[in-house]
Amino acid sequence: MSAAPSLISFSTVVTRLRAAGCVFAEDEARLILSTARSAAETDAMVDRRAAGLPLEHVLGWADFRGLRISVDAGVFVPRRRTEFLVERAAALARAGAVVVDLCCGSGALGAALVAELGGRAEWYAADIDPAAVRCARRNVEPAGGRVYEGDLYEPLPAALRGRVDVLLANVPYVPTEEVGLLPPEARIHEARVALDGGADGLDVLRRVTAGAPEWLAPGGSLLFETSERQASRALGIVAADGLVPRVAVCEEREATVVIGTR
Ligand SMILES: C[S@@+](CC[C@H](N)C(=O)[O-])C[C@H]1O[C@@H](n2cnc3c(N)ncnc32)[C@H](O)[C@@H]1O
Repeated sequence: MSAAPSLISFSTVVTRLRAAGCVFAEDEARLILSTARSAAETDAMVDRRAAGLPLEHVLGWADFRGLRISVDAGVFVPRRRTEFLVERAAALARAGAVVVDLCCGSGALGAALVAELGGRAEWYAADIDPAAVRCARRNVEPAGGRVYEGDLYEPLPAALRGRVDVLLANVPYVPTEEVGLLPPEARIHEARVALDGGADGLDVLRRVTAGAPEWLAPGGSLLFETSERQASRALGIVAADGLVPRVAVCEEREATVVIGTR
């Protein structure tokens, strides 16, 4: 029989996390203790965190714009800086918009945008990784969206062509040679397909922008994140594919978002 959660104290959890090198041990201890349903589960979570798993994989969820998003093992953890992309999208979207979240991972971006629209959106998400799709279904479908599995646009309903108002695409954009330099939490515990963007990090993006004019409604916009270093090349790619490009930067969150409007 498992003991009550209170039998493992806050200070014990903090001490174990600190000994494992967790910088935000107090915050993490609070999250673990409020998520675990038994002392045994608390113990197991602290062990997994001390072994280096991302906190969100240990908890099974991530906070993204105030939503509790399920995040399964191996699935990309939605980053705080990506909230900026959702904010830029929300500034463009109207209630009733057709929203597509391509390369959706957990589905966090679409979920946050549609929540911002008060649930008033027609909402589709897709990813190539079956683990991400399983996870996204739990985050997206109860809120009224649909999730598809496959390569970029390929699994989307054909009837969406020319109707998409907001196309979110937080594609992998780490250059292949730099994947090995990422922190172990990403490099070891997130799927390579979620990180590796090819030689210059822009390979998946090139395919997304090439297809975007066919799927966007007139006046609709594609939004994606890049690094500051990649932004000017990404703007050129967007323009070459016939969209009107612009960039938005949030220095505080170190976030760069490129927007291409049809
Ligand atoms: C950087 S992660 C972003 C996930 C999510 N949008 C987020 O921001 O939390 C990139 C995602 O793209 C997916 N992906 C990579 N290549 C893809 C492709 N060709 N077609 C569809 N999804 C792809 C990966 O499986 C991964 O979930």
